Amino acid sequence: MKKMNFNHIYNDFTPDAYLNCLRELDYREPDFVHDCLRKIVLDGISSHGEYKIVDLACGYGFNGAIAKYDLPYERCSVRTPFVNNSICHVVGVDIATNALKYAHYMNFIDDYIEQNLEKEIINSCCSEKLENTNLIISSGSFSYITEKTLEQIFSKLNTCVDFVGWPIYGSNISGITDFLDKNYNSYVVSDDIYPMRSFFNEEEQNSYIDNLTKIQLSKIGDTKKLPVYKIHAKAFEFKL
Ligand SMILES: C[S@@+](CC[C@H](N)C(=O)[O-])C[C@H]1O[C@@H](n2cnc3c(N)ncnc32)[C@H](O)[C@@H]1O
Repeated sequence: MKKMNFNHIYNDFTPDAYLNCLRELDYREPDFVHDCLRKIVLDGISSHGEYKIVDLACGYGFNGAIAKYDLPYERCSVRTPFVNNSICHVVGVDIATNALKYAHYMNFIDDYIEQNLEKEIINSCCSEKLENTNLIISSGSFSYITEKTLEQIFSKLNTCVDFVGWPIYGSNISGITDFLDKNYNSYVVSDDIYPMRSFFNEEEQNSYIDNLTKIQLSKIGDTKKLPVYKIHAKAFEFKL
């Protein structure tokens, strides 16, 4: 599929351009992450007392803002750091230095790993950052990260973790599902399909529809939106 490239807005000093550009495409409207993430975090805190998330390709830390403060994605363009009322700990992983700095300054993430784990070996000091992780999450990211990143992160974990990711419906993620098969006894692929954003242009839309005609196009309903689905692997299914 010929997917639009948004690299130019991933590494600004603020998320304004990112939010403005993607708002025009209805990105995360409604937000497919919010309710799922908040439920997992609140349930996790009830069971464990404390909760730690690693957000892969976290960008400006929007998922951290949701998890820690219940700040909705569309209100994430803020300038004053959050200092109180965080309910969990979040570690972000990304390659965009400025986005990570913003997320960290705002306290949307508590710590970060700034490495391209598709190409680089994870630094040995990262084990400490990943200690006692409960959940690995990733949204809007599977065009950029693969099982290579997952393998490196998982190699440093000392706990069984939940994994939740939202790949684009119809994209090939066999590397990731093989990875999950290797590490979990089972995982759940949602029947629900969520709109991620509108297509950037007709070329992107046609290219996606061409790809999807091989599978059930009718399942996605609105062909004006690029759809994602959810994959959830639960910690109790983790292979020890
Ligand atoms: C579409 S944004 C997703 C941001 C956020 N997770 C969201 O849901 O809005 C894609 C992110 O992937 C990051 N990225 C690209 N290549 C990466 C890599 N190799 N490792 C980690 N992050 C990467 C970009 O810097 C960008 O922040």
